[in-house]
Amino acid sequence: MQEDNKYVLEMQGINLSFFGVQILHDVELKVKAGEVHALLGENGAGKSSLMKILNGAYRADSGTIILDGKKVNITSPKVAKRHGINFMHQEILVVNTMTVAENIFLGEEVAKTKFSFLNKKQMLEKTQELLDELGLNLRADQEVGGLSVAQQQMLEIARALAFDAKVIVMDEPTSSLTEKEVDVLFQQILKIKERGITVIYISHRLNEIMTICDSYSVLRDGHYVGSNKVAGATDDEIVTMMVGRQIEHMYIEDRLYGEETVLEFRNVCNRYLHNVSFSLKKGEILGFAGLVGAGRTEMARALFGIDPIESGEILINGKVVNIRKPADAIRLGVGLVPEDRKKQGLILVHSVAYNLSLLVLNQFIKGIRVDHKKETEIVDKYSHSLTIKMSSPAQRCVNLSGGNQQKVVISKWLASNPQILILDEPTRGIDVGTKSDIYHLINKLAKQGIAVIVISSEMPEIINLSSRVVTMYEGNVTGILDTREEELTQEKLMWMISGGKQ
Ligand SMILES: Nc1ncnc2c1ncn2[C@@H]1O[C@H](COP(=O)(O)OP(=O)(O)OP(=O)(O)O)[C@@H](O)[C@H]1O
Ligand SMILES: [Mg+2]
Repeated sequence: MQEDNKYVLEMQGINLSFFGVQILHDVELKVKAGEVHALLGENGAGKSSLMKILNGAYRADSGTIILDGKKVNITSPKVAKRHGINFMHQEILVVNTMTVAENIFLGEEVAKTKFSFLNKKQMLEKTQELLDELGLNLRADQEVGGLSVAQQQMLEIARALAFDAKVIVMDEPTSSLTEKEVDVLFQQILKIKERGITVIYISHRLNEIMTICDSYSVLRDGHYVGSNKVAGATDDEIVTMMVGRQIEHMYIEDRLYGEETVLEFRNVCNRYLHNVSFSLKKGEILGFAGLVGAGRTEMARALFGIDPIESGEILINGKVVNIRKPADAIRLGVGLVPEDRKKQGLILVHSVAYNLSLLVLNQFIKGIRVDHKKETEIVDKYSHSLTIKMSSPAQRCVNLSGGNQQKVVISKWLASNPQILILDEPTRGIDVGTKSDIYHLINKLAKQGIAVIVISSEMPEIINLSSRVVTMYEGNVTGILDTREEELTQEKLMWMISGGKQ
């Protein structure tokens, strides 16, 4: 009987729809006090939407939210905060010129809390206390503008402590963190857990779920599937619950080796790169492994003309090329699926159809008329091959789930038919089922003769996908491994991306 009272949060019978399309169907979620509870499901399953209801950003059509045994009516994010529900946003919304202390005590809610009596000096002191307690190497009076995403996330944790939050929702918090930063975040999660604060944790990375979460709930297609303890659960069980089927053949089985060199870097240097040399063959998949900041994204940016090179040469089909801006690269048949898709990849206010056909427009604009038939063809083809979940091709990208936005970006570049395609962290934020689809698609492209570069921080992805791997460390190439000559192992790659020699 006591059991029920242990739930800090219960959401019951939640229904949500947009423009007549039902997104959540009678969803429930029960979270115990002081646990780290994973919310799992495929892209578009409804995880973020459910949390936006909890946060008061979306209004449910019907349903009940019970906090500490009491029914609450959450009408806005401000009200949610007042009830002790905090949100760790992935895109940080802080005002840049504010100090750390001002940021933590930001907002009207301060006036209604135990801190309303604080003057500036006390606010700084209290903040410093919190920062020190969390072991964060930050000063209360420094401006937040210069902080990294990881540090800004830590402020959210400090804020939760300052205001005795009950629940913190973390929606894919690690997607732009380095390995070290993930460790720090996990330590902080354990600390706030000790204080009895509950965490709802959304991530597509199963290893994180296994490491940090106590229990999990799964949504599939807007329906609640079930919930269980993490201890004793296997990856397979969880994945099957999420996807509704077992995933076989996650990776492709054959490796593709090319003959003909399409691209060559010869001693390329710029601010971030030191004498970077490698070659890329037609029809191969060349992996790039390295820690965050090793120069992999910088290599892609140089090739794409975002940060032009200062010395050295880039050759395409044996000819030295001068790539000063992305338009030059596109003309030469280079495509880049960028790491930061929100900023660089999509025009969010536009429709899926518009975004998909953006790069290929010139292929089918006759005079000034848009060939709608052709546009529809492209949209159909790619929305199917990557199962983009949308209400219609006219849906605006801003309303797609995170993972589905990424699928649009990838499709957009595929539709442009490049001869060299660079994919920077192609499966970040992508669910396991779709990951497999993307691997098979990349393989198919290489088979068609496209030269593919895959930059990834996920070792299994690099190991299982690449025919050769370039390892980078601090702007230098530390080695090039060929699967025909040696087996790729996690140990070997780790050694080389940490500065070790081949
Ligand atoms: N404001 C909105 N207008 C219309 N549709 C929306 C809106 N917000 C979400 N949706 C739709 O609701 C569905 C669920 O999206 P949600 O963002 O909750 O998925 P998710 O489980 O968080 O997925 P991901 O893992 O990709 O982040 C999607 O089909 C999405 O397009
Ligand atoms: Mg989401």
